[in-house]
Formats: sequence, structure tokens, C-alpha cells
Amino acid sequence: MAVPASTCALVLAAGKGTRMATSLPKVMNPILDQPMLFYPLLEVNSSGISDIAVIVGSGGATITEYLENRWPDTNTIWQHEQKGTGHAVMVAEEWWSGYDQVLVLPGDVPLIDSSTIEQLLLHHAAEGAAASFISFSPADPRGYGRVISNSDGIYIVEEKDATDTEKLTGEVNSGIYIFQTTLLTRILSGLSNNNSQGEYYLTDSIKMIQETGSTISTMKIQDPDQCKGVNTLAQLSDANELMRNRINYKWISKGVRMMEPRTVHIGPQVTLSRDVEIEPFVHLTGRTFIDRGVKVSSFSVISNSSIGQDTEILPHSMVMDSFIERGARIGPFSFIRDDSRIAEDAFIGKFVEVKKSQIGRGTKVPHLSYIGDAVIGKDTNIGAGTITCNYDGQKKHRTVIGDRCFIGSDTMLVAPVNVEDDSFTGAGSVITRDIPSGSLAVARARQKNLKDWVRRKKTD
Ligand code: UD1
Ligand code: CA
Repeated sequence: MAVPASTCALVLAAGKGTRMATSLPKVMNPILDQPMLFYPLLEVNSSGISDIAVIVGSGGATITEYLENRWPDTNTIWQHEQKGTGHAVMVAEEWWSGYDQVLVLPGDVPLIDSSTIEQLLLHHAAEGAAASFISFSPADPRGYGRVISNSDGIYIVEEKDATDTEKLTGEVNSGIYIFQTTLLTRILSGLSNNNSQGEYYLTDSIKMIQETGSTISTMKIQDPDQCKGVNTLAQLSDANELMRNRINYKWISKGVRMMEPRTVHIGPQVTLSRDVEIEPFVHLTGRTFIDRGVKVSSFSVISNSSIGQDTEILPHSMVMDSFIERGARIGPFSFIRDDSRIAEDAFIGKFVEVKKSQIGRGTKVPHLSYIGDAVIGKDTNIGAGTITCNYDGQKKHRTVIGDRCFIGSDTMLVAPVNVEDDSFTGAGSVITRDIPSGSLAVARARQKNLKDWVRRKKTD
């Protein structure tokens, strides 16, 4: 949607998060595979607002590091002492006063949807209000600021400051507001910390704006889940469950077969295609893409990887930062990592680790192998127990194996080493020299049979 150019967003994330009782800053606690803060930033961005600042304070160094890596276009503004949500907005005044309006939202409301933010912007414009905020009626309003309307207008009272009658109100403040910046500037200096927590509450601005003769409008939303605040680890796990369901049912509606969605964990940056089947207890995280017709079997974990059409990922496999082409078969119990590339119709089987390697089309590594820093060509067979000895204690070295090779079981390939096309190695060989094309290399002790040895041993 088209947003006026002069809208910015301020995400409040400086609070101590005392109620979480964790050593991580509150907004860095994860939901699925991303920190909680990821979600409001994503939704604000998708609503069309690209000028975003995050207020950091408690645990601010950790949050700043995350933002620099993951959201480099987002500004960070320090609130060195956490004197309340109103104070957090004050310390950023120089930044947001350069815009016509500022969306303010807490970093601990991860379930908010971009469409709701867009609605708030439209609602605010349509009402011609000086400030608008989202309210909702949760099943349990405890812990939220109550929204009270009377003949004087609307005000928000924090639970700790509310009278028993005020506490009976079921409508609460989401903490998500849009303010006209000129008015916000006008009233902020008048905020007081004369309340039970000794803090400058942003919520008091609602009453104060009305006292200037300007209008406040409330947008009440029907889905209470979107505005759930996360203040405790119990609320974090509730939010995790809601997010997991939201993501899983989105993919189910797009043609992904998932019979036990409660056991499946799919991160917000994963993309699935239709006719994908996800068995119970699968984790898909990071920037993972799974193409049509892929089946991912139970207890497999795929992270930051791309899986080509019709590939089968058999149970207990792990694929990290790698690329699997169409029609491959992986597992059970395979571990593929660090920029590996498995070409079409290749097979990586039981207890095989592949690290930073390329496996050619139709090549098979069926059992008990370590393939590291290697390039293997097409239609090659790697016997059980083969190991690329890639590390000399100081450096990693490459193993190159050509097309149509047959590497005998239990071959040790001491890198750097080059096995040319159409070559064979004898089982149990320790290969330390290059093998020319079409050769058989045997590098092991010759077998000796000591006749009658057993009988002689017994009679001695
Ligand atoms: C706040 C609202 C409450 C609302 C609820 C919605 C106030 C006074 N109360 O309460 O009306 O119903 O959110 O979830 O605003 N923060 C700072 N600096 C500070 C204090 C807080 O950046 O000095 C940040 C926190 O990191 C957090 C957000 O502001 O992300 C909200 O603070 P929190 O303490 O969680 O407020 P609530 O008690 O949940
Ligand atoms: Ca909160």
C-alpha cells in the first residue's frame, strides 16, 4: 500500500524484560528460529514503512549487533536509562520529528500482522486523528493497560494504577500507536512519572493529546492473538505456538501435506512449494527453499538450504547451508553441510557426512563415509567406509574424483589427491598419490595365509 513518504516507525526494545527471567535481552528470545524482534520489524517493513528505528538499552549491545547483521537499514537509538515507554519515545525525538507521523510499537508484540498496521494507517488518515491506537479484548486482560472511555474522552490506565472498577474493563491497549509528530512533540515534555512505577508512560499521551483539543481514535481489532504481549517465558511459548500454527497452516493451504503440524517447526523465512510432504518432527529453518514433490521425513533438519524437485529426504537427516538438486535421495542419517552441492539423482546414504563438497549427477555415497573438501564427478560409486583425509593437522586439502569411478570400500584418500575418470581403488587402500584415468590403484599390504597355523598353535 502507498504510505505517505513521511511515516517512520519506532520499535521500543530497551526495557529490561525482568519478567522473562532470562539472561538474553527480552526481544532476543527466539520464536521459531528468529529473535522475537524479527517479527515486528518484518511486519512493519511489509506494511510499507522503511524508515525504522529501534530503541535499545538493556542488553542493547546484543540487539545492536543483531540489527547490524540482519537489518542494516534499521537505525538504533540508545535509551541509556529505562524510565518508561514515554521516555523511550522522548529520547528518539530528534529522529522521528523529521517525519509527519510516527508509528510506535513495542518489540514484544511479535504476532502483529502487516495488514493490521496498514489498517491502522488508513484508519488514522480517515479519522483525521492526531493519534490512533489499536485496542483489543483478550480472554485475560491482566497485565495490560485498560482503555477507558467516558464523557471526557478516552484514556489508558496501567493495571498497577487502575481502580477496581477500571480493572473490570475488558478492552486493553495493544501498545501500537500512530502519532502526528508535531502534536507528540508538543505534549511529551509534559509527561510526568507520578505513578505507581515512577515511569514516564507513553499511554498518558492519549489523554494529554485530547486536552490540546485534538482527536484520538481507537481501532479495536477482533483477533486478540495479534496483539498478545510477551512479558514472560510462558507467554513466549504461547506466542511460539501461535506463530508456528500461523506459518504451518499457511503452507497447508498452499498444497503442502503435513499431517501432524503441531510437531513441525517451519521458520518465517522458509519457502515451500505445492506437493511437498512434511512428516512429523521436521525442522525447517533459515532461508530454506523446498521445491515441488519433495518429501521430508521425520526427525530431519534443513537449514539455509535449497532442495530440488522430487528429492527424498529420508529420516534423521540434516542439511545445512547446502544445495540439493532434483531427484536426489538423502538419508536416513545423512549430514550435509557448509556449501555442499549434491547434483541430480545422486544418493547420500546412511551415516555419511558431506562437508564443503560437490557430488556429481547420479553418484552414490551409500554408507558410512566422510567426504570433505571434495569434488566428485558423475556416476561414481563410493564404497562403504570411504574417507577423504582432508586435514593434515594444519590445513584442509582437496580430493578430486572423476566420473564413473569405483572407490572400493574403506578407501582412505589422503588429500591433496586426484583420482581421474574411470578409475578403481582396491578395498582398504590408502591412496596417497594421484591415480591416472582408467587405472586400478591398490595400496594395502598383500595377504599372507599361514597354512596350518591354528593347529600348530594349539599343539605348541
Ligand atoms: C505496555 C503498555 C500497556 C499495554 C502493553 C501492551 C505502557 C506504560 N504500558 O505495558 O498499556 O497494554 O504494553 O503489550 O506503555 N520499553 C523501553 N523503554 C522503557 C520501558 C519499556 O524501550 O523505558 C519497551 C520494552 O522493551 C517493551 C515495550 O517498551 O518492548 C513495552 O514495555 P513493557 O514494560 O513490556 O510494557 P507493558 O507492561 O507490557
Ligand atoms: Ca510488554
